[in-house]
Amino acid sequence: MVNFDLVLRNGTCATTSDTFQADIGIKGGRIAAIGESLPGGAREIDATGKLILPGGVDSHCHLAQETVDGVQCADDFESGTRSAAFGGTTTVMPFAMQQPGKTLGETVAAYHALAGPKAIIDYGFHLILRDPNPQVLGQELPTMIEQGITSFKVYMTYDTFKLDDYELLTVLSAARSLGAMMMVHAENDDIIHWLSEKLTVGGHRAPKYHAIAHARIAESEATRRAIDLASLTDTPMLIVHVSDEAATNAIRSAQTAGLKIFGETCPQYLFLTADDLDRDGMEGAKYCCSPPPRDTAGQEAIWRGLKNGTFQVFSSDHAPYRFDQTGKLRYGPNASFTELANGVPGLELRLPLLFSEGVNTGRLTVNEFVALAATNAAKLYGLHPRKGTIAVGADADLAIWDPDKKVTVQYETMIHDNVGFTPYEGRQLTGWPETVLSRGRIVIEDATLCATPGSGVFLDCAKPDSAIPSGRLHPEANPAENGGARLI
Ligand code: URP
Ligand code: ZN
Ligand code: ZN
Repeated sequence: MVNFDLVLRNGTCATTSDTFQADIGIKGGRIAAIGESLPGGAREIDATGKLILPGGVDSHCHLAQETVDGVQCADDFESGTRSAAFGGTTTVMPFAMQQPGKTLGETVAAYHALAGPKAIIDYGFHLILRDPNPQVLGQELPTMIEQGITSFKVYMTYDTFKLDDYELLTVLSAARSLGAMMMVHAENDDIIHWLSEKLTVGGHRAPKYHAIAHARIAESEATRRAIDLASLTDTPMLIVHVSDEAATNAIRSAQTAGLKIFGETCPQYLFLTADDLDRDGMEGAKYCCSPPPRDTAGQEAIWRGLKNGTFQVFSSDHAPYRFDQTGKLRYGPNASFTELANGVPGLELRLPLLFSEGVNTGRLTVNEFVALAATNAAKLYGLHPRKGTIAVGADADLAIWDPDKKVTVQYETMIHDNVGFTPYEGRQLTGWPETVLSRGRIVIEDATLCATPGSGVFLDCAKPDSAIPSGRLHPEANPAENGGARLI
């Protein structure tokens, strides 16, 4: 008797809390049953000896994003989502960047037009807010939230993006009243500028100086300040792409104090160091991202933060710039470190790297891996339980992993983005997502793409605060403790 469209037989399934042997029956794109000896499916896959994990949710990546200085994003929604799928990710959340002179509605419409015909897996959007004027915060942002875009990123650095503290408070206050999730790029712009100027005047132009200019203190000071501002307004906030120990500790102590501060980190802070920026010639440019990779002690601090729950989210921050004049070397082969496009690719290797060096070395349990790879981001951004878990009724977004498969990273033969290089070239990994399903469709099988561009769908995110446990009100935010004055 055929009951299901597809049955995955006898795999070892893992969620954030449980690991169990079961068959999974899929019907109409969703998980219809989980159990022993399920009835037959139109197709069956034997997953004996394999792990069945929720498809990954990569909640920080840049696809087809316009840049301010003519640098080209090498990946569009086709190549980016293809690459993500090959690495076991089934949901991506790239950014729709606010363009000066355009409304948020116009901005988002442009990204829908870029994504709709091309995406191979499902996607949601975050906004990037560059000009949070009253019209944007009062009129346009509420409309975006109604349309399922419930999170946005702001920057404390970069000339044409950075917000000052007054603007940050204004945006935090809006996020609080709208129930949106605010993501912050926390680096102190003045420290970076001051150091960059000193280095440049001294004739120091090589890529390695990027890591010196983007000092740890620039990151930790901005992180602490952002947390203080979020505390003043009692607003949940996520610090993105955390690179080092001091910023990690700042997030940890805010969480210990009961504040709703969340943390995100990325593979580059576990697997690269500032020494990579000091490779021969301009090679170091390939490893330039902000904040920069630090050192082995910093890597250990990030691993600890993943293990002890300081970081909820492990994303790629895939920023796809080629190592040529369209990308990294937009200002020529002898560009100064201040002119290099910032960002590294990572959509495809995010999960294989974390699985190999996290689960297979015993640093993380497979359940912790699932939380970091998929479930926490789905919860934080209002996609759970549709995405990020294995449960009856959830979308059948699943990856079947061979936990023992040995792979040597080789860009030319195995990476499917358009960047042209990977910072992880030559690395030996154990564990690989062999078969990947998105809404029950087989997207990757036998190292082959089986789905077509345009088959991914836009995901309407719920307000994230529905999934976040509420914390205490900070005294300054509480009118009763401010002489009755309503500050926010
Ligand atoms: O260097 C980075 N992280 N580039 C991507 C843009 C961003 O700030 O996330
Ligand atoms: Zn950033
Ligand atoms: Zn980013």
